[in-house]
Amino acid sequence: MIPVLVKRRYEMESRFLMCAPDYFGGEYNINPWMTDNLGRVDSTRAKRQWLSLFESLSKFATIELLKPRPNLPDMVFTANAGLVREDSFIPSHFQYLERRREETHFRKWFSARGYHLTDLAFSVSFEGEGDALFQSDNNLLWMGHGFRTDPRSRDLIKALFPKCISLQLIDPRFYHLDTCFCLLPGGQVMYFPNAFSKDSLQSIADHFATQDRIEINEEDALHFACNAIVIGNTLILNHAGSALIKRLQSLGYRAILQPVDEFLKAGGGTKCLALSLSSN
Ligand code: ARG
Repeated sequence: MIPVLVKRRYEMESRFLMCAPDYFGGEYNINPWMTDNLGRVDSTRAKRQWLSLFESLSKFATIELLKPRPNLPDMVFTANAGLVREDSFIPSHFQYLERRREETHFRKWFSARGYHLTDLAFSVSFEGEGDALFQSDNNLLWMGHGFRTDPRSRDLIKALFPKCISLQLIDPRFYHLDTCFCLLPGGQVMYFPNAFSKDSLQSIADHFATQDRIEINEEDALHFACNAIVIGNTLILNHAGSALIKRLQSLGYRAILQPVDEFLKAGGGTKCLALSLSSN
């Protein structure tokens, strides 16, 4: 259970970056979720879902907005802009050309606000918070590789954050770490085991006691339950089955379901739509 005072601190300090879905739509295919959904996004519904997420998140956090740009449909997924730690920003370098054109807009937004930009290397792909998640209680950075972020980026990032563990993703439907792995402030991790290699499952087991490992089933995983925005003891997520909701409640968490299925068509859930600016 998270003490009330700690909870308040998390909530007060939480800040996120979002980008409205003015130009969101299935225009290209860079992950298995997009394959069958080209041209199938209902943009009116997507806008409604995004606004509802925005309103729900606003109750717990301050939200900064980035101006959407035409022909950059995936810019809504701000979690991929880069990685923020206090006043430092490590910009992403996307694997696919379709998303590389977003980089300049993300960089400009952060430089204009006085962030210190640290580039990794332009030859190595790195997809920001999609593949890099901080465990705040011990300052450990968990990184994902296998589909998007190049494993060599870990060596580069280690110069900045020496405590860093790399996990190998093996299921193309869970191509970013944040689609199948979610760190919780009470010291637990919620994850979908089948998305990881054997060695990576061992690394997770080495760092989390059995009672702190919340293994979710495929049904919840496919609804992007792990792709949750976490603010103190509140989780905002697309969907979770009743057993998972009960398990979370028993650990002192509250799940707010905020359907974003129009965005699942592009391979993103709630967390992909909000980049954390407050390192919690
Ligand atoms: N269509 C986007 C892509 O394939 C979805 C990004 C989802 N973002 C995330 N943080 N997992 O790049």
